Amino acid sequence: MGCSKILILVYIFSIFYFMWCLVLAGDFRKDVDIIWGGDKAKILENGRAIALSLDKTSGSGFQSKAQFLFGKISMDLKLVPGNSAGTVTSYYVASKGAMWDEIDFEFLGNLSGDPYTVHTNVITQGKGDREQQFRLWFDPTINFHTYSILWNPRTIIFYVDGTPIRQFKNMKTKNVSYPEKQAMRVHSSLWDGDDWATRGGLVKTDWSKAPFTAYYKNYEVQDCVGSNKTCGGDGSSSWINEGIDDSGMKRLKWVQKNFMIYDYCNDPKRFRLGLASECVANAMSMS
Ligand SMILES: *[C@@H]1O[C@H](CO)[C@@H](O)[C@H](O)[C@H]1NC(C)=O
Ligand SMILES: *[C@@H]1O[C@H](CO)[C@@H](O)[C@H](O)[C@H]1NC(C)=O
Ligand SMILES: *[C@@H]1O[C@H](CO)[C@@H](O)[C@H](O)[C@H]1NC(C)=O
Repeated sequence: MGCSKILILVYIFSIFYFMWCLVLAGDFRKDVDIIWGGDKAKILENGRAIALSLDKTSGSGFQSKAQFLFGKISMDLKLVPGNSAGTVTSYYVASKGAMWDEIDFEFLGNLSGDPYTVHTNVITQGKGDREQQFRLWFDPTINFHTYSILWNPRTIIFYVDGTPIRQFKNMKTKNVSYPEKQAMRVHSSLWDGDDWATRGGLVKTDWSKAPFTAYYKNYEVQDCVGSNKTCGGDGSSSWINEGIDDSGMKRLKWVQKNFMIYDYCNDPKRFRLGLASECVANAMSMS
């Protein structure tokens, strides 16, 4: 085959590859509403990316137009670089009302060269206090990394680049409430959390570095609405039946051993009246 033919093939292949990526990634123009900060939130690249920024006057945020009752949500994030202490980039799904459900990722910035904290929480029926915090095994400000929330009837799993870092199983049978009745929206925002995010407010946001900017792309939702093939009928490979397999379990343990810096299940000082039922049930199933 001549060189030009190979080039043509490569060219055709890249066009298809490019179109495939476009189909997979959502369009922020159609999928979300900017709900805070006005033009501090900017939709870029024909809807393929969003930049959220924060300065002394305001932060910014968006939410999905659609609501989901179960789903797998993925986004690629590139966090605020440099001295980001005090900034909080949040990415979560939540329902409404006083008895709301919520599944949270929050990225707490830090001084230049110091690591981010990934803060996670699960709130059911308005009750949270289920924090787990992690360090990352890479610098989240240099490249985009994929953060996903799986929420199906069996389990909730937090993923970083496909690696499970946390699991919250449906333990309704053990009297632990589980989000399964209220639809949720995807939310994201960049805000100033310097009164709690940095060592209890010791380090203040350095406004001379503003505006702070975080980037989002490849918004992707698999859900039960509008797409029957991904919900139910699709066998064990579908997100609706997804769990953690053996190799995933090894990864999860690796993360929890090496990168977990706080676990509400391991904080008897804070929970003097006893740890949450899911902590007790998990500890018993391990032993
Ligand atoms: C910032 O980095 C310091 C030093 O490693 C660490 O002790 C602290 O927990 C970090 N703060 C946040 C908010 O991640
Ligand atoms: C189940 O949980 C509810 C609310 O947390 C509590 O009031 C109730 O006593 C629990 N029941 C059992 C059997 O543990
Ligand atoms: C999904 O399935 C239901 C029930 O079988 C049907 O009524 C609905 O039209 C389907 N939706 C789509 C988008 O195919």
